[in-house]
Amino acid sequence: MTLLIKNGEIVTAEKQYTADVLIEGETISLIGENLSAPEGTETIDATGKYIFPGFIDPHVHIHLPFMGTFAKDTHATASQAALIGGTTTFIEMLAPAGSEELRDGWNIWSQMAAGNSACDYTFHIGVTRWDEGTEQTLRELVADGMTSFKVFLAYKGAFGIEDATLYHTLKLARELGVVVTAHCENAELVAQLQARLLSEGKTGPEWHEPSRPEQVEADGTAHFATFLEMTGATGYVVHLSNARALKAALDARERGVNIHIESVIPHFLLDKTYAERPGVEGAKHVMSPPLRDKSNQAALWQALKNGEIDTVATDHCPFDVDQKRMGDDNFTLIPNGIPAIEDRVNLLYTYGVSRGGLSLSRFVAAASTRAAQIFGLYPRKGAIEVGSDADLVVYDPNYRGTISAQLSHVNNDYSGFEGFEIDGRPSVVTVRGQVAVRDGQFMGEPGRGQLLRRSPQQVQRAEVPV
Ligand code: URP
Ligand code: ZN
Ligand code: ZN
Ligand code: ZN
Repeated sequence: MTLLIKNGEIVTAEKQYTADVLIEGETISLIGENLSAPEGTETIDATGKYIFPGFIDPHVHIHLPFMGTFAKDTHATASQAALIGGTTTFIEMLAPAGSEELRDGWNIWSQMAAGNSACDYTFHIGVTRWDEGTEQTLRELVADGMTSFKVFLAYKGAFGIEDATLYHTLKLARELGVVVTAHCENAELVAQLQARLLSEGKTGPEWHEPSRPEQVEADGTAHFATFLEMTGATGYVVHLSNARALKAALDARERGVNIHIESVIPHFLLDKTYAERPGVEGAKHVMSPPLRDKSNQAALWQALKNGEIDTVATDHCPFDVDQKRMGDDNFTLIPNGIPAIEDRVNLLYTYGVSRGGLSLSRFVAAASTRAAQIFGLYPRKGAIEVGSDADLVVYDPNYRGTISAQLSHVNNDYSGFEGFEIDGRPSVVTVRGQVAVRDGQFMGEPGRGQLLRRSPQQVQRAEVPV
């Protein structure tokens, strides 16, 4: 199998230039001008188009038992939707219930993905409790290439962990050289504020944001940062949503704490007025941390442009309208989450690059390269180099379209971004040398995606106080 992509404008996190890319087998074998193709090569004309490294979504939920129900996607539906939108690798949150053995959780998640994902994938290993068995399993999973963890400082009584577990997890992570990703909200404050609002008869989705305000996320972020500082581990704040939390993370970075920052596409483009719509219309836009006051968006865009925010992910999490109705009489029962795996790249391109002054190189860094670097996938993924996996996106900046649930390939019946215009889309997407998408149609092999094993590679701080 050889493939020649001709005359495209290659854009990576470092450079931009016009060249041809030759793909032999699963990897890039040559990059240069006027490359000629061996016999039997398929040639793709990329004149007037960009060639991006395959995009990486470092925060998705596919199999997710949560809030009394299950998110709607399968690994087949989510991966095909991802590919149509240019995402060629995702990192899924493996999130077992606190009552479940981690090893059992691993078996469930890994078996569900195996043979069903059309794109490559790996997992952040959720630590939802701490005991000898958990520690042993974590050591084994890291040795097997699952070199990042996930903790929830929110969701008291569900995924949420105590500080002792946070401490043990970070100590182990530092020892093993892996990154710990964290959902940062103060769980106790959320529980208390929820109870207070409900007792005042405030039950609609518009009360979701006030039940977990910006301060609560800023506190969770500062708290996580302090634990990183005391243990010397490397952290990654997921779905950071507001200026106060951003300040908490940047203050920590300033002190020398190893802390990476992720924000997710809903927080750049949707504000809390979406969740204030009456009834289920509001519920469709309930996620945690919540959609915020619009004033935060400028701060997020600015931090993305200057590189303070490392990555833009989705927190993809599809619950359908019936599931969202579970919280009709009580906002705390609305399953949290908004789907976005298919639309992230086009939205970031449109409202960042095309309409917002985000440079192409920062766009590629935030949507692909930084995630590969932070999570041990680089330069196999996130790069256009000889020897890299041939995961490429030939992107058409002249395409014009509108997002709607009807056109979506996610297994859900609404889109949080209904009616948003897009100024581009992938015209060809390859996964390890095979064409998986052409002009919005999946034409790949379902189930061809591989589990990506990674090596520990984080440089940890040498000196720590404890
Ligand atoms: O609302 C969200 N984010 N749902 C998924 C679970 C999580 O917190 O990531
Ligand atoms: Zn979360
Ligand atoms: Zn705190
Ligand atoms: Zn999440």
